Amino acid sequence: MSDGKNLSVEEKRELLKKLMKEKAAKAAASQAATSAPASGFSEDKSIYTQFEKFPEVQTLVAQFQTLQMLQVDNPYFRVNEGIVKDKTRIGGRELISFSSYNYIGLSGDPRVSQAAKDAIDKYGTSVSASRIATGERPIHKELEQEIASLLGVEDSIVLVSGHATNVTVIGHLMRAGKDLILYDSLSHNSIIEGCVLSGARRIAFPHENWEELDRILTEMRGDYERVLIVIEGVYSMDGDIANLPKFIEIKKKHHALLMVDEAHSMGVIGPNGLGIRDYYGVNGNEVDLWMATFSKSFASCGGYIAGKKVLIDYLKYNTPGFVYSVGISPANAGAALAAAKIMKTEPWRALKCQENAKLFLKLAKEKGLNTGPSKDSAVIPVITGNSAHALILADALFKEGINVQPILYPAVPDNEARLRFFITSDHTEEEIIFTVNKVDEHLTRIRKEMADVTFPKSMIG
Ligand SMILES: Cc1ncc(COP(=O)(O)O)c(C=O)c1O
Repeated sequence: MSDGKNLSVEEKRELLKKLMKEKAAKAAASQAATSAPASGFSEDKSIYTQFEKFPEVQTLVAQFQTLQMLQVDNPYFRVNEGIVKDKTRIGGRELISFSSYNYIGLSGDPRVSQAAKDAIDKYGTSVSASRIATGERPIHKELEQEIASLLGVEDSIVLVSGHATNVTVIGHLMRAGKDLILYDSLSHNSIIEGCVLSGARRIAFPHENWEELDRILTEMRGDYERVLIVIEGVYSMDGDIANLPKFIEIKKKHHALLMVDEAHSMGVIGPNGLGIRDYYGVNGNEVDLWMATFSKSFASCGGYIAGKKVLIDYLKYNTPGFVYSVGISPANAGAALAAAKIMKTEPWRALKCQENAKLFLKLAKEKGLNTGPSKDSAVIPVITGNSAHALILADALFKEGINVQPILYPAVPDNEARLRFFITSDHTEEEIIFTVNKVDEHLTRIRKEMADVTFPKSMIG
């Protein structure tokens, strides 16, 4: 069979369509051969011990085959060989990067790196125990006080991972059979996992639809004890900002708790770069649980919950992911603390990031690219509306020297497949102009040449 390299555009398209069809038929046949009968479990129990026969493993294999058929390199697990700011080095090549959360350039900042090294020199590479036992170090409390001061609240608790923070805190505070959690339908996986873990009744309200949230609460509030509303400051797929004042109004009206995940907003949005509280100018005490991760603007690793002292004290003595887990490492605490202090004193970083995002968005809109509802944040999607197109576009851009991650089905519905650009304070005007031009050029070409190339129907549901 031809490798497709010397074919005309027309021939290439036909070949792709044929391969996709064959693949869909093969996938369906293989699924039918290995999945359990509709009536119950398979008689052949050996299939439950062979990972290659697990349907989800077969789906992954099918996805790799699709990459091959589309003649694109695997865009996942690419090795970035150094610090990633506006640029990165992959396979010895320098590329413009739009794939890291280093929004305000603090990962790689010499002051932040030095703080991590100093913390290691002082406290070692691990605190070697849960903080409730012998893991507590002065740097932990210092960091927690700094976080609380950024948000204007009484106290905070710091955990080893952002993801684990949501899982363990939501999972622990909310209870099966008594409580209700209402979370935005575009919530991050860690929020959903926390809701599932809690066993509480959980309902996803339509994205940003506070009217619907109000309606659900009017109907259901009476049936539950605690009610938790969970939203995000900036939504990581679309780059839109939650209408925080409305959610505060609703949570007060219905006596609910409000939790805001600021993974993508803290350090980035607002006139001082201090997140969604700063963006809307609300009082920190209006929100019950402020959450964010250290893996983005804080240039570290970990997560926090900030709020009233009584809540933080309770969580410190009871949250499983805190009590039964090691304290955040000295290096991570040191880096996050240094970053938090810089965030406060150098708001120009967030403002530069906002300015860059504004320029990217303006240029993309002028080209007619679909950037969804992104506004005032550093997350800008370019929606291709087709997973195959998103994959081919990301590959073409990579070859042009631009690294950006495609988001494909099943992470988003196929017709919402996209490239997701993370803008940073380090990007230059030239890099942004070059990138938007290249996106437009390649997307126009791909749509013309490969209009009917899609992921196999069997794969996109
Ligand atoms: C909204 C949101 N919450 C939580 C997390 C988890 O944070 P971490 O990756 O630092 O564990 C992420 C990570 O991307 C996120 O986007």
